This record gives sequence, structure tokens and C-alpha cells, in this order.
Amino acid sequence: MRLSYFSPGHGRWGRAALALGGLALLPGCDFNFWRMDGHQSTMVASGPVAKAQLDVFYVTCWVTLVIFILVGAVLAYATIKFRAKTDADEHAEPPAQGHGNPFIEIGLIGASIFALVIIAIPTLRGIWYTYEVPAGQKAGAYEVTATGYQWWFKFEYPKEQIDGVGPLVTGNELVIPAGRPVVVQLRTVDVIHSFWVPKLAGKVDMIPNRGNHLWLQADEPGYFWGQCAEYCGDSHAVMRFRVVALSAKDFADWVAGQKQTARTVAAQSTGADAPKVQFASFKRNQYGYSGKWAADAAVSPLDNWKQQQSPAPDESPVLIAQGRRLFTAKTCAGCHTIRGHEGIGITGPELTHVGARTTIAGGLLENNPDQMARWLRHPDQVKPGNKMYTTGYVPNNVQLTDDDVGALVAYLASLK
Ligand code: CUA
Repeated sequence: MRLSYFSPGHGRWGRAALALGGLALLPGCDFNFWRMDGHQSTMVASGPVAKAQLDVFYVTCWVTLVIFILVGAVLAYATIKFRAKTDADEHAEPPAQGHGNPFIEIGLIGASIFALVIIAIPTLRGIWYTYEVPAGQKAGAYEVTATGYQWWFKFEYPKEQIDGVGPLVTGNELVIPAGRPVVVQLRTVDVIHSFWVPKLAGKVDMIPNRGNHLWLQADEPGYFWGQCAEYCGDSHAVMRFRVVALSAKDFADWVAGQKQTARTVAAQSTGADAPKVQFASFKRNQYGYSGKWAADAAVSPLDNWKQQQSPAPDESPVLIAQGRRLFTAKTCAGCHTIRGHEGIGITGPELTHVGARTTIAGGLLENNPDQMARWLRHPDQVKPGNKMYTTGYVPNNVQLTDDDVGALVAYLASLK
């Protein structure tokens, strides 16, 4: 029997191209296979935990590569040396079958054990290292709690208490101090999720009724992509988040700003007409902004994040005031908290400073007016099965006109 797939008809080069093509397709869209430095590449370790994990990967890779080369060489040698050279060889009886050579067999068992021990030592060391912050660094560790929801992440800062409120809470963007170990307590309110920031650490599951944790550290300030890594329902694949690592001073400033109640834009003179806003439209499965994140194109993602912290120069107080009214009228306030304004809900992400985030919809969409408009108009299309639609829009019969969307977008963008 001959497998037609590997028949000579396809040609040696055809098969090579197929294999290469398969490799190139594997990594997905934002990943250059040859550079291996995509947003979620584990090959670019930006902290000690990710480095420890990468080291274990390399040890395993090298050991298996050596085994592959040795076995391949022996196989090639035997195939060439003992091939049928003449017609007579081809029709000859097979040689007498032996039962193996005990020395070779014991040698192979010994070599396998040796290879496993070489892999096991760094693996076990890595497991202990990544489980707990090393004793000498514990005193300087920062602690946060990450909670998985279908399909977004809530982040709580137990060290940052707000008078009369409780700990500081954010959604989908975890801001941490750079150069310090950060212990992340992992919780979930519904199903199993998994917390994974490929360049920093992961993955550890968030399991119902069980307290898991991991620690990570970003060596330098930076902007990192994260992703839920455990299937958790309809929109698992688009359950994302970001980690923003800041210098000590920037982090302290950020915390101070986040503790403030929501920003209120001073009302303009009455009677002014609200401007009409036009938003771009998107294809159903088009998630990036014009196919490419603005953060990739113009400035570094971290600088883009920093720019996002200040109010847009062209904001319209009339629209913002109208949006604030609609936030209650359209029942958004029942599921989202906006400290200092009307929102009091806890079902959806905290939105007190949502305008200062670089992403919305659980880290899926870039936070800009076009994408926010799209998210408000078609939450069911962007993130199938999400609660904003299934338990918000549907039972409350929420209908938004274009003017409503424009006002809500302006209001949310003003919450810096
Ligand atoms: Cu949460 Cu997958």
C-alpha cells in the first residue's frame, strides 16, 4: 500500500513547501513565525517567571532534538546500508529474526532514564520557583486578585482601599508596578477560566470554589497581551485582557487617579445642540481597528496607553451630559458601577475610569469611539452569548438610536 499523499507525484519540493506552509499558518495572524515575537509569544520572556518557563521549554527542546538526530541518523544509516541493491535482494527471504541485544536494550533504557532526569531537574525546579515568590523577594511583592467572568476579567487591589467603598476595582486591564513580584490570586464566579499572560507567566486555572494563585513580574514597564486559556463557553476565544506594567512613580499616580470618583465634565451653556456623530461600520468578525491596532502603527502600545489617560480635546459636554442620562435610562447603570455617578451594578465590569482603558469588550476591541459604538449597537455579534445582551438588552428591550449611541460613546470616553 502506498499513501498517495506522499507519492512522488507531489514532488520533493511540493512537500517541503506544504510543510513550511503549514508551519507558517500555525501561529495565527499577529505572529511572525520566523521572528516569533507576536503579542502572545511565549518566546519573548519579559520577566523571571516567563524566563523560567521558557528555560524548561528549551531544555526539553534540546534533549528531544538530540534524540531526534540520533534516532534519525541510525534510521537513515540502516535504511541505506541494508536497502535492496539488486533484483535478487528484493525477492530474497528476510534474514533470521533475533530477539535483540541485551546490552543495547539496557543501554537504551538507561539513556531514556538519563534524558528524563535531565528534563525533570529543571522542570521540578521551575514548578517550585513559579509557585511561590522566592523568600528573599516576598517582602516587596504586590498582591492583586483576578476574577474570571463569562467573558471578562475583574481585577481587585486589596492594598488600595477606597474609603467607604472597599478595594480599588478595574476590568480587563491589570496595571502593575514593574520590577516587583506581583502575586495574582485567581478566582472565578462561574465556570473554569485560565489566566495567561504569555510574556509574563501562566497558565493557571481559575476554578470555582478553589483559591489558586500565581506570581509574575515584568522586568521593565510595558504593555502585555493576556488571554483566557481554558474553554469557558461561547466567547472563550475572545476573552482577553491586558497587563500594563508601570514604573513605581507612574503606578502610584495611576492608583491615586483610579481612587478618584468618576470625572464630571462641566456642563456647557444650556440650549446648545448636541453634535451629530458618525461612526465607522465593521464586518461581523473584524476585531482589530482597520485590521490593525492603532497601538501597533503609531506609537508603542505603552505610550498609546499613556495617551489614553487624558481626556480627548474635542469632547462635547452636551453629548456627555446626554450620555450620562441615557446610561441610567437604558438600564446600563443596573449592571455597571461608575463611582460618583449613577452606576451601581456589579454584574458587568466597573466603568469608573473606562475611558482611560485601551480596550473594551473584555480586551477584544480597541477602546475608540468607532469600536465603542459597534459594541453598544451589536454586543451579541461582537461577543456571542454575553450578559450585556442576554440579560441586559433582551429583557429590558434596550433599543439605541444613532443619537443615543453617540451620546453614550461620548460619556464613556469622558470617564478618564
Ligand atoms: Cu474564560 Cu476561556
